[in-house]
Amino acid sequence: MAENGEFEIIARDGLSRIGRFTTPHGIIETPTVMPVINPNLIVIKPGDMKRLGVNSVITNSYIIRRSSSLREKAEKSGVHALIGFDGPVMTDSGTFQSYVYGDIEFGNSDMVDFQRKIGSDIITLLDIFSTPQDSFEKALEGVRETYRRSLEVTEDGSIYAGTIQGSIYPELRKKSARLMSKSVAGYLPIGGVVPLLESYSYRKLAEIIYSSKTNSDFSKPVHLFGGGHPMFLALAVYLGVDMFDSASYVKYARDGRLLFPDRTVSIDDLNEIPPWSPLHEKYTVNEIKSLDPDTRMIAFSEHNLSAIFNEISEVRQRISDQSLRRYVQQKVRAHPALYDAFLLISRKKFPDRYEPLSKKSPYYFTGEEDTRTAIFRKLRTFCLQSIRNERKDVILVEGSDSLFNHGDNANLVDIYEKYSVMIVRDWNGIPVPMEMWETYPVQQSISIQKKGKSSLNAIQEKIGRIVLFHGNDDLRGKLVPLTSQRYFDIEKIRMISRYQFPGINSELLFPDSVSIRRSRKTGRIRTVSLGDDLIATLRAGDGLLTFTMKGAARLYQSVNGYRVSVNEESAAFNADGKNVFYKFITDCDPNIIPGNETLVVDKDNKLLAVGKSMASGREMRVLRRGVAIDVRAGINHE
Ligand code: GUN
Repeated sequence: MAENGEFEIIARDGLSRIGRFTTPHGIIETPTVMPVINPNLIVIKPGDMKRLGVNSVITNSYIIRRSSSLREKAEKSGVHALIGFDGPVMTDSGTFQSYVYGDIEFGNSDMVDFQRKIGSDIITLLDIFSTPQDSFEKALEGVRETYRRSLEVTEDGSIYAGTIQGSIYPELRKKSARLMSKSVAGYLPIGGVVPLLESYSYRKLAEIIYSSKTNSDFSKPVHLFGGGHPMFLALAVYLGVDMFDSASYVKYARDGRLLFPDRTVSIDDLNEIPPWSPLHEKYTVNEIKSLDPDTRMIAFSEHNLSAIFNEISEVRQRISDQSLRRYVQQKVRAHPALYDAFLLISRKKFPDRYEPLSKKSPYYFTGEEDTRTAIFRKLRTFCLQSIRNERKDVILVEGSDSLFNHGDNANLVDIYEKYSVMIVRDWNGIPVPMEMWETYPVQQSISIQKKGKSSLNAIQEKIGRIVLFHGNDDLRGKLVPLTSQRYFDIEKIRMISRYQFPGINSELLFPDSVSIRRSRKTGRIRTVSLGDDLIATLRAGDGLLTFTMKGAARLYQSVNGYRVSVNEESAAFNADGKNVFYKFITDCDPNIIPGNETLVVDKDNKLLAVGKSMASGREMRVLRRGVAIDVRAGINHE
């Protein structure tokens, strides 16, 4: 059983994740939106919201406390009974009211005690709201005071939300994220952003989320206070936001406006009711326009909640497909300010360490934007570096796939094995050595086809060396013969190993004596053996290496790092081939990236097992719940 406040990551794509956050009233499946419930004015009963996809809500403890009737009921029967919801209920503290109306009459400890008393599942500390107009000094003071208030609260098993503030200053957001991460708070909202959301200042917002998220403890959910518009959800989740709250479903309904996936439509302009809307079955457009105000308010609120939760469902599916970025690229076209925010983030060299070398979905290459991903940049750096390191002539082959699949491959392999050359093809501007042609993303991509020699000059410029062009020319006369034979297959798996494990001695990992088996059907490399021992497999899906225990022992000898150490309690299980759980990890290499092969060692650095990492090394240091390494083989169980 998970303990309250534990956050388990089930699936991930970059910084975004599908998680399960345990609270006293049940598990919150993230990413999701908490509808804001105004206890004075309940438009849709929270209990009725469940059928629309709602599984947690947020209400305001300050509003409850200020009204004697609400307060008495909440103190007597609890906040869940007060608002009629038996799932997780988060309470806010009155910070927002102090921003809108000026100082409030209660202090931090007071508000925290009250929230605890009424049985809140997530208790929000009374933070200092920083506005985008605040000076640096004022915002810094707010960050310090918010942290100081967190020290007034002692660890007692409750879940506390400690808000990250710091106005528009990335440095202050970073400071605040680090302070709140080490505080008693197990839940980290990003605050002070409502004015930015209201003014469509998505660029500033993206910068704020980015600096807050990348400096926060990854084992804690990150919440964005106020960001529930379907247009913005995907981008925010892409930046690592796990939770949102939204009053927009009622606010827009009150103004006669309907939320759509990419915009808001006013009732006067409504011409069609989309089939996904709960209004579709119930009304015609004309009927909607003549609804009485109360009925309209409920109907529009239901529609708006549906729009929000449809979007959440799509975003969750995208994370599990590992295609969220592609979806974000579509969504940001909804508004120039969103697109601008996306460009800013793309330029930030989006955190490479959270990105795997391959994804479940193919790599879609449509242009410049797709050269900014971690996968693209890693491949480009690796290929250019490899070409620079090898002092050989470079042959650029044209067309490539057809050459490779229709017999010319044998020709190329023949050239490769006899002459001192590197053979490359142009994959979207990257000169990719032949050894990498079947590895993700090169083989598993869908690109706009470029024809002819157009990229030859660009590639020549990049690698700073004369490139021979293999079109119709017979190059053999121009090439320098090798003095000793080399084998393409062996060089291929060596290069792939260098791609997966920078710094490796690939000749030690795969000596000349390895034997390689190919698939009879596809002709592709399947397995690598040494003597009678199978040591590695080249995965059909992404062309990357996985290892047996014998192979893992060679990997261990050939490279430093890519290791996690586990405690004694775990060691025997892992040696038997069982998975590694985060909570047993005592140390790990921060350079581990998700999805790559990873070695499991004991406290004396003795090899125990090998498997696939489920998160980056940085996350492994903080995550507490769930599987960290999906173990394939252990020393006692191969
Ligand atoms: N609701 C909207 N913004 C904020 C914020 O910055 N802090 C708190 N506590 N609640 C909010």
